[in-house]
Amino acid sequence: MTSDNSLSVVILAAGEGTRMKSKAAKVLFPICGRPMVDYVLDAAMGLEPDRIVVVVGHKGEEVIESIRNTWLPRNPRAAEPGVLEFAWQREQKGTGHAVLCAKESLQASRGLVLVLYGDTPLITADLLRAFRDFHVKSETSLSLISFTPEDMGAYGRVVRDERGGVERIVEARDLTPAEAGIREANAGIYLAETKLMFDLLAEVGCDNAKGEYYLTDIIHIARKRGLEVAAYVAGDAQAVQGVNDRYALSLAEETVRKAILRRLCLDGVTVRDPSSTYVDFDVEVGLDTVIEPQTYLRGATRIGAGCVIGPGTEIINSTVGDGSRVWFSVVEESHIGKNVQIGPYSHIRPNATLEEGVLVGNFAEVKNTVLGRGTKAHHHCYLGDATIGAGVNIGAGTVTVNYDGVRKHRTVIEDGAFIGCNANLIAPVTIGKEAYIAAGSTITDDVPPLSLAIARERQVVKEGWVAQRRQKGR
Ligand code: UD1
Ligand code: CA
Repeated sequence: MTSDNSLSVVILAAGEGTRMKSKAAKVLFPICGRPMVDYVLDAAMGLEPDRIVVVVGHKGEEVIESIRNTWLPRNPRAAEPGVLEFAWQREQKGTGHAVLCAKESLQASRGLVLVLYGDTPLITADLLRAFRDFHVKSETSLSLISFTPEDMGAYGRVVRDERGGVERIVEARDLTPAEAGIREANAGIYLAETKLMFDLLAEVGCDNAKGEYYLTDIIHIARKRGLEVAAYVAGDAQAVQGVNDRYALSLAEETVRKAILRRLCLDGVTVRDPSSTYVDFDVEVGLDTVIEPQTYLRGATRIGAGCVIGPGTEIINSTVGDGSRVWFSVVEESHIGKNVQIGPYSHIRPNATLEEGVLVGNFAEVKNTVLGRGTKAHHHCYLGDATIGAGVNIGAGTVTVNYDGVRKHRTVIEDGAFIGCNANLIAPVTIGKEAYIAAGSTITDDVPPLSLAIARERQVVKEGWVAQRRQKGR
């Protein structure tokens, strides 16, 4: 239910993002592994609004799908009926027109409306709360956030009257020479009574350099009506930076990345070289873990306590148990148990499970395979589509021959088996408990438990062969 002190949020995410020079939707560009717009949604949710309306247009289906699939499941309150809505802006006629597209969704709303742009990902709930308090205390009709950017870029400029009051906003393209020196920029964040917002928007025209309906025009329309307008000057200019091109995107990512690393460090993780460490937003790392340089932890990765990760390692959507070490290696979509060692130079591909105490590498590849407790695959090998028990020794150069050119087959190696060097295990095949495979064997048939299988030519020695050959003058 909405009441007079209710809060609605409108997030504009319909723009084409021309300056990104991309086929993808701007607000879905990832920053540390999650879409830009998710950060804005998080900040908005921090105000506990009664309703959030996301205005979508360009690539709108993709934007809706992304928010529904990645953001909403983590925000159960927003999943309650009527809290999150999408409004379509079929044609991108400017930010003012975009807010108007949310009018229907907000018809029942009486309280305040906060308007945010979907391309301002560094905004925080704290800043928005301070802004709301400012608006309520200053008793103005319309408030906006302004700031002093390092680079004025394409930001709209805040024009003040002789009394210092906010008079209007001029877009960069429409600046007169007299206004060109203004250093106060518009952050694109506004608060007003919902009814007033739409009344003002009804008067916005499109007589400007771009021929668009500018939301920013509500400022001077309000002033013309004799209403008070105030700007809340954000001390933290970074937090309100807009992302219009990929350079701004990389700067925003740098800021988020540093914040993530700072949080990890304060939570008891050692980050040896922040400048070469990349940790996605959702990654969790346990106490006393050391992250060495050139390390990438991506997606929904969880690293336990007391691990050493890196140098030169990438771990994607995987879990790593306490006390494990992964160095110079790649781990994808896999489960790594406690006290496991991987690397150097190993590749753990999707759907691998390495149980406690497993050793893999140097130069090993593992895919869709379970390695039981304490199993060792110390040297270069390929283990694919295999179920390998506990305490197995995999010799150097072992290959599970899983692919016959048409289908994949499984190899089963039971507990305590010993696979000699350079063995080919032609799947489907089962090596029984504690069986031995002689080095250099190509195993095509099942090997029963506790037996030895040798599958190779017997060695032939031709004594004196070299001398005979020389005699024949070859
Ligand atoms: C806008 C402001 C500018 C401000 C800057 C802050 C206007 C006219 N200008 O400029 O004063 O300094 O943001 O970052 O508002 N969008 C739609 N539909 C549209 C057009 C845009 O939904 O038809 C959305 C975009 O997806 C984007 C946001 O509105 O998320 C801002 O649009 P953008 O074109 O980036 O505006 P700026 O030029 O950055
Ligand atoms: Ca922008």
